[in-house]
Amino acid sequence: MLEIKDSVAVITGGGRGIGATLATYWVKQGGKAIIFDMAADCLEKTRAELEALGGEVTTLVGDVTKEDDCTRLAETAIEKYGKINLVAPFAGITKDGFMVSTDRRTGKVKSKMSLEQFQSVLNVNLTGVFLTVRECTEQMINHDCRGLICLVSSIGSLGTAGQINYSSSKAAMSVIPKVMTAAFFRQGLSHRLRCVAIAPGYTGTEMVKSMDERVLDKVLGQVPIGRLIEPEEVTSLVGELYRNEACAGDVYFIHGGLRLGSRG
Ligand SMILES: NC(=O)c1ccc[n+]([C@@H]2O[C@H](COP(=O)([O-])OP(=O)(O)OC[C@H]3O[C@@H](n4cnc5c(N)ncnc54)[C@H](O)[C@@H]3O)[C@@H](O)[C@H]2O)c1
Repeated sequence: MLEIKDSVAVITGGGRGIGATLATYWVKQGGKAIIFDMAADCLEKTRAELEALGGEVTTLVGDVTKEDDCTRLAETAIEKYGKINLVAPFAGITKDGFMVSTDRRTGKVKSKMSLEQFQSVLNVNLTGVFLTVRECTEQMINHDCRGLICLVSSIGSLGTAGQINYSSSKAAMSVIPKVMTAAFFRQGLSHRLRCVAIAPGYTGTEMVKSMDERVLDKVLGQVPIGRLIEPEEVTSLVGELYRNEACAGDVYFIHGGLRLGSRG
């Protein structure tokens, strides 16, 4: 079992939501956190909260879709703390909409999802994760680190209507742990480097609270526990996956019992 105390977590999307909650969890357990986000104001707020807890934290403003920013993130972690133990590439966005929307009256297509709406979500949620993980893994290998790369997939990876962009990006997150674990195994690294994904259901962050209220009510009607997942419940799972080195190469769902039906 690994200890969180004195370990170093690199968290993208660490300015708010699940990323910020993970940083709080990490420093409360005695770990150190590097939080990276494009929203400088959110980062500063989270930094103040973590420091008030007596936590050791470094903030970096950047964009996960920019290769240089991700290189700077991984290098900063090593310069500051000499190691990386947890990589949590949690920066993510949604831009929901049907691929083609029909007019109720005529039954004909009235609008289409734009290429930008599709690609921008893939850029952040997939390419951004690739860049973050590639840069951090390089440093973890070269500095003999031991730890976990914990991706964030979603219940949406199983296919939700109106999320062809988001669901595709999150389905990718559920195969990458297998790809990386197999590669680490072949390369003789799997005794110290692991990769998993968590797949949360609807979790009470800004991303979900900004959803249309009627849609959210409908969704919650399908959740057996009858409420949103708390961000703290998600980060507690990340902590367990970090500590428990038998967890590798798979996707761990946390959705309050939600099962998606044929209407997604
Ligand atoms: N909230 C949920 O219900 C839920 C469920 C399943 C999975 N997830 C996933 O968990 C992760 C975190 O979600 P959240 O609910 O905390 O979202 P959030 O919107 O509250 O926070 C996301 C953070 O990512 C940052 N970000 C966005 N694009 C960025 C970029 N290009 N570079 C750097 N930072 C960027 C934002 O500024 C923000 O601070 C996402 O990957 C999301 O898809 C969320």
